[in-house]
Amino acid sequence: MNILEKDVERILVSKERIEEIEDRIAEQISKDYEDKNLLLLCILKGSVVFFSDLMRKITLPMEIDFMKVASYGKGSSSTGNVRILLDLHREDFSDLDILIVEDIIDSGRTLSTLVEYLKMKGCRSVKTCTLLDKPARREVPFQPDYTGETIPDEFVVGFGLDYAEKYRELPYVGVLKPSVYKNN
Ligand code: IMP
Ligand code: MG
Repeated sequence: MNILEKDVERILVSKERIEEIEDRIAEQISKDYEDKNLLLLCILKGSVVFFSDLMRKITLPMEIDFMKVASYGKGSSSTGNVRILLDLHREDFSDLDILIVEDIIDSGRTLSTLVEYLKMKGCRSVKTCTLLDKPARREVPFQPDYTGETIPDEFVVGFGLDYAEKYRELPYVGVLKPSVYKNN
C-alpha cells in the first residue's frame, strides 16, 4: 500500500470505474473525430494520467500537445486567476480540431478561458473532455463536451489530481481527509 493512502478518507471513483469511463469516452471520441484532424491537448499537470490512457484508447490518428495553466495556488480553493505557463507554438491553427483534456472542472474558469483563447487562435473546432466535473462549484457557466463522472463538492486527489503537488500517483480518485488540509 502506498504510504499516501492513509490520508484518503474514501475512494470516490475506483480504478475499475475509471477504466470503464475511459473506454466509453474513447469510443465516442473515435466516432466523433473520424473525419476531423484531432489534436489531443493535455492540460498539465493534472490531466496527464487520464490523457495518457485516452490517447492509447482512441482508435484514430492524432497529434498530441501540452499546455500548462495555473488556476490554483497551493491550497484547496480556486483563485479565479488563469495564467498560461506553457503555450502552443504553431504558425497555423486553422486545420486543427482541438480536444482539451482536463482532470476536473470546478469554477469553470480554466476551461472557459482556454476555449476562448484557442478559438481566438483560429482553430477549426475546440471541444473539451474532463474526467471529473463538480457542477455545484461553477462560477462561470461551462458545459464540457465529454464528462467522465459528475461528483459532489468535495476535494479529491489521485489519478493526476493533487493537493499541494502530492497524491497524483494514486491509481484512483479519492476524497482527502479534511484533517490533511485543515492543518495547513
Ligand atoms: P477551475 O478553473 O476552477 O474549473 O479549476 C480547475 C482546476 O482546479 C483543475 O484543473 C484542478 O487543477 C483544480 N481542482 C479543482 N478541484 C479540485 C479537486 O477537488 N482536487 C484537485 N484539484 C482540483
Ligand atoms: Mg488541473
